[in-house]
Amino acid sequence: MKKLPETKVKVTDVKELINKGYNLLGELREEVGAPVVKAEFLTKEITVIYGEEAARKFYDPENFKREGAMPKPVLKTLFGEGGVQTLDGDEHHHRKSYFMDLMSPDRMEEYHELLAKNVSKELDKQHGEFELFDLANRVLFNSISEWCGINLEQFDSKTLEKLARNQISMISGAVTSPVDHIKGITDRNESEKWAEDLIKEAREHPVPGKEHLALYTFAHATDLDGELLPVEVAAVELLNIIRPTVALTVWVALMGHALFAKRGIYEELQSDFDNLQDSFIQELRRYYPFFPMLPAIAVSDVEVDGYLIPKDSWVVLDLYGSNHDKRTIDSPEQFDSKRFVGKAKDISYEEEYEMIAQGGGKFREMHRCAGEWITLHSLRVFSDHLVNQYEFTVPEQDWTIPMNQFPTYPTSKVLLFKE
Ligand code: HEM
Repeated sequence: MKKLPETKVKVTDVKELINKGYNLLGELREEVGAPVVKAEFLTKEITVIYGEEAARKFYDPENFKREGAMPKPVLKTLFGEGGVQTLDGDEHHHRKSYFMDLMSPDRMEEYHELLAKNVSKELDKQHGEFELFDLANRVLFNSISEWCGINLEQFDSKTLEKLARNQISMISGAVTSPVDHIKGITDRNESEKWAEDLIKEAREHPVPGKEHLALYTFAHATDLDGELLPVEVAAVELLNIIRPTVALTVWVALMGHALFAKRGIYEELQSDFDNLQDSFIQELRRYYPFFPMLPAIAVSDVEVDGYLIPKDSWVVLDLYGSNHDKRTIDSPEQFDSKRFVGKAKDISYEEEYEMIAQGGGKFREMHRCAGEWITLHSLRVFSDHLVNQYEFTVPEQDWTIPMNQFPTYPTSKVLLFKE
């Protein structure tokens, strides 16, 4: 086995890291001319791996564990502490089952219909210019809260708007400027307080017939010893459904970019929608940058692409790089709506390591995203509304997608005009 190549590029400050953004890890690989690279990252050494084979190894618990791998700033904003992302082994399987049991085909259908109804209602209200990002943010927050069993009528509209925005700032706060980070922490605290009150209320007043909804599921979820989860942890898990669903705002905005800023895609979809819709959605998830990388710690010596990664190494799997891996993906820098025709279902319902925008592997046993099916339904609803159900004109705007912003989306947040 070959010894790990090390880069001369030392990423020593957060600003340098942020400016390189999604391109950073690919640049490190280029620097050493190898698929696996060791680099100094802030005060730590990381080994960066990417691609289908590396992902397969990354998800195998014989090779890597998650406990202790996630940097604190990310837990304080993006994920929250004590949530499913940080667990391993039986504890992880047990907690993850609560999530996956919520994602039954029937409940996915209910979500689809609810979201479709709410998107139509919001679009019907629009006359003149509006921001797609803002509309998606509100509709996704309201819809997922309702799907979780939360009665939003008890909150005023200002509170709801703030909570909807918080779900995005918790993400932006994970790896950006110190100002954004502090805002991310404040907004997470506010959201957790909201979720904790909901959990307490659900514990005190269980509603017969609603046990299968996310709010009541987490309110009554237990640990491996049968003890109720601490309120704080139950709240973090409820937010683990709400926050990422609202984060789909970003993919809706990127969908706006694909449809209205890229030449020919809108027309292509309009002419063959049923055949292309799911392939277009998978290509959207593959092509645009979103979740950049995932950390883990090697629990044994691991071989990846012929290189030896010693036990206890801190490793990151480059998701963006994996989805643009020339070794397995043809012309990865091209957006091809037809790329996944006939394969779209397998990608999101089978064990997967090639297209890993939301992580890979098995849903129940591994850390793969619990929300991939909600994601698909959400993007189906928005694509149908944007392409088939409504007509828009597209005002002059800035379509730049900065590569050094997390999460990133078109600068003008997709302005559309509707009669
Ligand atoms: C906005 C688009 C989304 C992206 C880019 C995304 C991405 C990811 C990624 C990369 C992971 C980590 C996988 C790993 O650690 O191996 C993850 C985990 C997770 N996601 Fe998503 N996700 C999205 C939407 C959702 C939605 C809609 C939900 C819930 C409805 C959700 C719930 C979760 C949960 C609970 C986990 C933790 C799973 C575990 O640790 O076992 N995500 N997601």
